Amino acid sequence: MKEAGYAVAVYPGDGTGPEVIREGEKILATLAEGGPAPWHLTTYPGGGQYYLASGREWEPEAEAAAAQADAILLGAVGWPGALLPNGDIAGRALVLGLRENLDLYANVRPCKLYPGVRHRISGAYHEVWSPRNVDMVIVRENTEGLYTPARGRLTRARETEVAVDTRLITRKGAERVIRYAFELARHRPRGAPEDGKKRLTCVDKSNVLEGCRFFRETFDRVARDYPEIERDYAYVDAFTQWLVRNPERYNVVVAPNMMGDIITDLAAVLQGGMGFASGGNIGDHHAMFEPVHGSAPKYAGKDQVNPFATFFAVEQMLRWLADRHHDSRLVRQADRLERAIASVLADGSARTYDQGGHLSTTAAGDRLAAAIRSEGAA
Ligand code: IPM
Ligand code: MN
Repeated sequence: MKEAGYAVAVYPGDGTGPEVIREGEKILATLAEGGPAPWHLTTYPGGGQYYLASGREWEPEAEAAAAQADAILLGAVGWPGALLPNGDIAGRALVLGLRENLDLYANVRPCKLYPGVRHRISGAYHEVWSPRNVDMVIVRENTEGLYTPARGRLTRARETEVAVDTRLITRKGAERVIRYAFELARHRPRGAPEDGKKRLTCVDKSNVLEGCRFFRETFDRVARDYPEIERDYAYVDAFTQWLVRNPERYNVVVAPNMMGDIITDLAAVLQGGMGFASGGNIGDHHAMFEPVHGSAPKYAGKDQVNPFATFFAVEQMLRWLADRHHDSRLVRQADRLERAIASVLADGSARTYDQGGHLSTTAAGDRLAAAIRSEGAA
């Protein structure tokens, strides 16, 4: 527990990032009402729009603050036309750069469907999956795999002849993320919705790829330390259909970087869409939390996007801080936040556009703030 309060560095970023982060800040302020705030936030500009205006992705003090903060909250980065000279998106420093520089090796994406949330499929709203059946966490390797910066082009006479990306799977990289996933499976209070079993599913393509064979071998080696966790295996292609058909089977899932990137967005459909999907980028010493929907430029400035992904990111951040600092106050705050979120979502009248409703981003934040107040003090 940290008496002075936790320092949270906040990077709203581009597009709708600042709109959802403003609601996240509102919720943190509401949770802290009536007592000394257990956290203090400092906000820094940065991203693609900032790059277009200043020629820099962010300022040196913004970067330094990320390394010094107790936790990081990120909105979203990316803006049309904002590219670095090498073709990368301007703002990558705030996402991929922090993953690399702070060694945030586990990308942790909870996927839980709350009562009252609908799925948008083919432009219509449905209740496809039962909330009882969707409650898993996907852990994605976040520092290597196909994201390894060993890539490039062979050009001759200024024409590209070949483009190459290199997929690296290392012993250290695979082992630590797999261990993280086993620990999570051990400590999560509930197992898979289907049968209550504590199960860890290793998703890979080890029937073809050498790196995946090594990933799976590493999984089996680490598994020996966790005899109480059921080992489960899925090739990534088959996994995509099982995930949709039978989500109740899954409890914790671990996957290499690019495969994890793809399956987590698919899984977001089960939880109501990207408007509900939050992610933690977690290392041994630092962590960054974000709504994973991106900057959504076409909705920017419209006060329309769903801020619940940000609320879940805030909840994830509080739980991570609580765990790391053995701070039961923050567990109570996170529980209170989750109860308030669940009560707002269960009340089907509070729907943003992605759920077929008309509630604005700001009004959704106000609804949640009111629900937190009626939960009473933590
Ligand atoms: C994610 C995103 C990022 C990724 C992008 C913004 C670089 O899609 O966090 O899943 O590819 O990892
Ligand atoms: Mn992604």
